[in-house]
Amino acid sequence: MNFTQGDKVVLVGTGAVGSSYAYALINQGICEELVLVDINEAKTKADAMDLNHGLVYAPIPQKIKYGNYSDCKDAAIVVICAGAAQKPGETRLDLVSKNLAIFKSIVGSIMNSGFNGIFLVASNPVDILAYATWKYSGLPKERVIGSGTILDSARFRFLLGEEFGVAPTSVHAYIIGEHGDSELPVWSTANISGKLIATDLTDQRKDEIFVQVRDAAYEIIESKGATYYGIAMGLARITKAILRNEEVVLPVGSLLEGEYGHSDVYVGVPTIINRWGRKSIVELSLNPEEKEKLANSVKTLKEVQSPFWK
Ligand code: NAI
Ligand code: 2OP
Repeated sequence: MNFTQGDKVVLVGTGAVGSSYAYALINQGICEELVLVDINEAKTKADAMDLNHGLVYAPIPQKIKYGNYSDCKDAAIVVICAGAAQKPGETRLDLVSKNLAIFKSIVGSIMNSGFNGIFLVASNPVDILAYATWKYSGLPKERVIGSGTILDSARFRFLLGEEFGVAPTSVHAYIIGEHGDSELPVWSTANISGKLIATDLTDQRKDEIFVQVRDAAYEIIESKGATYYGIAMGLARITKAILRNEEVVLPVGSLLEGEYGHSDVYVGVPTIINRWGRKSIVELSLNPEEKEKLANSVKTLKEVQSPFWK
């Protein structure tokens, strides 16, 4: 199987995020074949049945089944949403030891199948788990993508759309860095159809908007236990960009190798996505304050990540 052919997607982890992603994928008719894998086989079997029962109303014919890691052999994309999620009060980085152990086993099993496609990682802490997937799999960096700041940037664009009374799709603005507490907004390039917007807002208002973005997950987890619809739609968007060879720019988790002045770390940065995975990173012209905040975010991630790779 050449990883540039076929559009089979294997989803590992069919919890709240994974099953919402499957639902988004099927409703948008993004792939022709979806295989669900989870340690909870009974639930996965039931999810496959449930999704199949909606197929008559889906936009294209699709094959959905539950399976196991051998199904990854000829998959174009394996999406990983498995592992522990935050409980109220926990940070994403608190999940690192538990989820690294789970990932070592999952990625090993996927690679043993002969998988030669593209990994899309969503589990948290996503930047560190994308890095781990790249290390454990031995695949080129282009074929290991994290969901990065796709959700954070969507939250940012939504709030800015509300602020300015314009559709979020017409707001071009990025959150970069860690998908987590040390992330940063790139105000210096944020624009609506080319018009820069940073000077239209007071510093206090900008801070309020950013804090709402950064802390959105805590607020949602406190009220309903987990976040899943937003990330599911973001993952579906990345999947579509890969399978349709879109060459679209999305803020995903990419391995830095000198870009933005940093190396050996996955962070969310605007990245061109095509059928081969990551084509290239777009380097925004950050101002000195943004550069400092990005350096701090990279430092935060490396402090947590480094002890596991000595
Ligand atoms: P969940 O607890 O609902 O689902 C996790 C699933 O993983 C369960 O179905 C469980 O059976 C499965 N699982 C656990 N160990 C496994 C193993 N060894 N092999 C196969 N499957 C295994 O959790 P939820 O809410 O779906 O979150 C999943 C992950 O996604 C968490 O790490 C969470 O923090 C992360 N997340 C990431 C977001 C992002 O923006 N990247 C947004 C929201 C959540
Ligand atoms: C989110 O940002 C918890 O990472 C998850 O919604």
